[in-house]
Amino acid sequence: MKPRLVIVGPPGAGKGTQAAGVSEDLGIAWISTGAIFREVTASGSELGNQIVQLINNGDLVPDSLTNQVVANKLDEIGTDGGFLLDGYPRTLAQVEALDAMLSERGMELDAVVELNIPDDAIVGRLLKRAELEDRQDDTEEVIRHRIEVYHDSTAPLLDVYGKRGKVVKVDGIGTIEEVRERLISALKDSLGE
Ligand code: AP5
Ligand code: MG
Repeated sequence: MKPRLVIVGPPGAGKGTQAAGVSEDLGIAWISTGAIFREVTASGSELGNQIVQLINNGDLVPDSLTNQVVANKLDEIGTDGGFLLDGYPRTLAQVEALDAMLSERGMELDAVVELNIPDDAIVGRLLKRAELEDRQDDTEEVIRHRIEVYHDSTAPLLDVYGKRGKVVKVDGIGTIEEVRERLISALKDSLGE
């Protein structure tokens, strides 16, 4: 059975960077709600216009919309597929919604990767990215707000998944390759392969 995984971590922890490699290695779908929302906002559609300000300010998109986006992706993947959810769930309400979505489809999560970097390493990484990529939420003020939103709304999820024995902690400091090896080896231990 292909693994069903979540990766959680603060902005700039390297979720997307690592998710790209891990999903390819494991042959599973990479679902980044942030990337999906950026595509929608770039399209100039009515939906995009509704959420563009939230994203640019570093605020969360409403749970109902976010949950629907993920449910659609899970339907595309089908019940036999594996996935790596990057940036979802992000609130306790999204954890509940994901629980319901998975159980309706007869699926279960195998592991939740907690990718950690200290707050003081985040701003530098993301300001560097701002020089290369055009993300409107990569300004210092918005980055600091995103860090606060992470601590307030998202970090509490780790207690919930921790109580379920699903959390695999990975240190996100080091080169991209070092973090990747650490992550793969921690996942192998956890999935018992
Ligand atoms: P999202 O796209 O998920 O952004 P984020 O969580 O703020 O995280 P980032 O994508 O900025 O960082 P990352 O951890 O992926 O790091 P990366 O690999 O890019 O969400 C954006 C917005 O969408 C949210 O604010 C919200 O508005 C909305 N949204 C998304 N999901 C939502 C949800 N579930 N509910 C509600 N709203 C939602 O790496 C960062 C940089 O560091 C890159 O330049 C990379 O090259 C570099 N880097 C990576 N690893 C290393 C390393 N080991 N050493 C040095 N540099 C590194
Ligand atoms: Mg990302």
